[in-house]
Amino acid sequence: MPMPARNEILKWLYERLKPKRFLHTLGVEQEALQLARIHGIPLKEASTAALLHDCAKNLSTEKLLAICKDHNINLHNNEEYPQLLHAFAAPYVAQKQFGTLPEDVCNALRFHTTGRAGMSPLEELIYSADYAELGRDPFPGLEEARKRLIADLSDGTHFILQNTVKYLESNHSEVFPMTMQALESYKDRPLINYSQNDRRLQKEHIIW
Ligand SMILES: [Fe+2]
Ligand SMILES: [Fe+2]
Repeated sequence: MPMPARNEILKWLYERLKPKRFLHTLGVEQEALQLARIHGIPLKEASTAALLHDCAKNLSTEKLLAICKDHNINLHNNEEYPQLLHAFAAPYVAQKQFGTLPEDVCNALRFHTTGRAGMSPLEELIYSADYAELGRDPFPGLEEARKRLIADLSDGTHFILQNTVKYLESNHSEVFPMTMQALESYKDRPLINYSQNDRRLQKEHIIW
């Protein structure tokens, strides 16, 4: 399936996103491409999904709700989580501009904020790259997440989900049910117990 050229996407995003969001988007692409190279995920899919993940971020809540309604998206009472609407709407906004995109790319956009049970490698990649991109201000667990992602993408994603749920619970914020289900789906795959000097965690993050 032909996918839009990178420069076309960039031109479109540059016109619609605030400068800070545009820079974040480039950071997510950089992080996603680094991890995609390491873990053998197709680079074009990684780049396209990373660039488009926040393409609906500039739209109003009313507009996002209208898009979701038009496409019969089951929001699972998602009106309570307005910050998540931009993810659910993203595949439709992106495809209206660029034509049909692969289902895996659409799902990577759709679930980049919540995660879901049984994520594909591309979904894990975009969910995690959004969290771990280099432009993020430091916060507890960020460095460990980056190292775990380089060593093992699913383990890194599991670590991020766990960290996110812990953070939300400690702030008495509600955890979106899909995020809880995503975390539970890793329960048969316990976090890797790295020792401090484990060589698998020594690979440095590359700064291009
Ligand atoms: Fe987002
Ligand atoms: Fe984002």
